[in-house]
Amino acid sequence: MSGFTRILSASELPADNQAREVECPGRTLCIANVSGEYSAMDNVCPHRDGPLGQGMVEYGKVVCPWHGWAFDPKTGVAEHSARARVQVFPLKIEGDDVLVDLG
Ligand code: FES
Repeated sequence: MSGFTRILSASELPADNQAREVECPGRTLCIANVSGEYSAMDNVCPHRDGPLGQGMVEYGKVVCPWHGWAFDPKTGVAEHSARARVQVFPLKIEGDDVLVDLG
């Protein structure tokens, strides 16, 4: 079933250039704040399943805490290889609600 699901309140969003993990139905998301732009991506790094939401935001990328692979928060594509990518989900903020379309 598609449609936007409320995953947290706006006050729980990560601070500027930080990321956090958010548990959702069926998966864990990495919610990132990249210079004020929020994105929602799958939390599982395609390298060795590292937790992206525990990583850092550097130079506009979400960086996996385990071995440093860096991902574009809008496309999910890894910096070093277009073949390595994580799924990105549409995110919107309505009032105090943060909504993600989990597909
Ligand atoms: S598990 Fe993410 S870079 Fe290795």
